[in-house]
Amino acid sequence: MQAVSPVPVPGPVPGESILTESDASLLFGGARTAYTFADEPVTDAQLRAIHELAKWAPTAVNAQPLRAAAVRSPAARERLLPCLPPGNREQAVGAPLTLVCAADRSFTEPLPRLHPRAEHYQQLLEEGGPDMRAQWARTSALIQAAYIIQAIRAVGLAAGPMNGDNAEALAAEFFTGQDVEVLLVINVGHPGPDAYQDRNLRLPFEEVYRVL
Ligand SMILES: Cc1cc2nc3c(=O)[nH]c(=O)nc-3n(C[C@H](O)[C@H](O)[C@H](O)COP(=O)(O)O)c2cc1C
Repeated sequence: MQAVSPVPVPGPVPGESILTESDASLLFGGARTAYTFADEPVTDAQLRAIHELAKWAPTAVNAQPLRAAAVRSPAARERLLPCLPPGNREQAVGAPLTLVCAADRSFTEPLPRLHPRAEHYQQLLEEGGPDMRAQWARTSALIQAAYIIQAIRAVGLAAGPMNGDNAEALAAEFFTGQDVEVLLVINVGHPGPDAYQDRNLRLPFEEVYRVL
């Protein structure tokens, strides 16, 4: 078995960053995935602020295909928990709010409001067929989900992203009648006791990038 690397400690913020040290830490090196949550609600104002920040994510043809169910009421949370696999259910049970994030494969419909060449792209995606539309929807919605994680951190909350296992059950429960692919689930809230697992290694630049 391969040896586990020593726990990495984030180094100083690179001098090239133009964020303050504390902002850079909040969003990057100091940001952690939360596995437990305090008994404190996520307010409407916080949820809307998350959207106001994250909505600027770049997406293909500005189509913004991400659709999110913000599961907060006790009744909705009762419907959520059975859709999650056991390990992830334990994490979600204590979260005040969970975002079920999906890619809308019918994203071409609102396109005329979003892009000046909507007609051209609607035709291209019509000709490209369902696989092409699904691929475009997935790529951009995943980028939007990453922005949402950062926006959650920017409003002082913690995110606990989890795989969208049982995607079909989640889609049936929260996106009835919509042509969506559930991609991931994000618990949101203030971190609770022992909220974090050990920090694991990040790949070094040389393993990730090839500069050509
Ligand atoms: C797309 C995605 C899916 C994840 N799925 C799970 C999951 O199903 N269960 C889980 O316990 N953690 C899950 N995680 C959490 C990751 O393991 C965690 O974010 C990563 O190890 C970094 O941890 P850190 O932020 O504490 O450094 C997921 C994270 C992401 C971004």
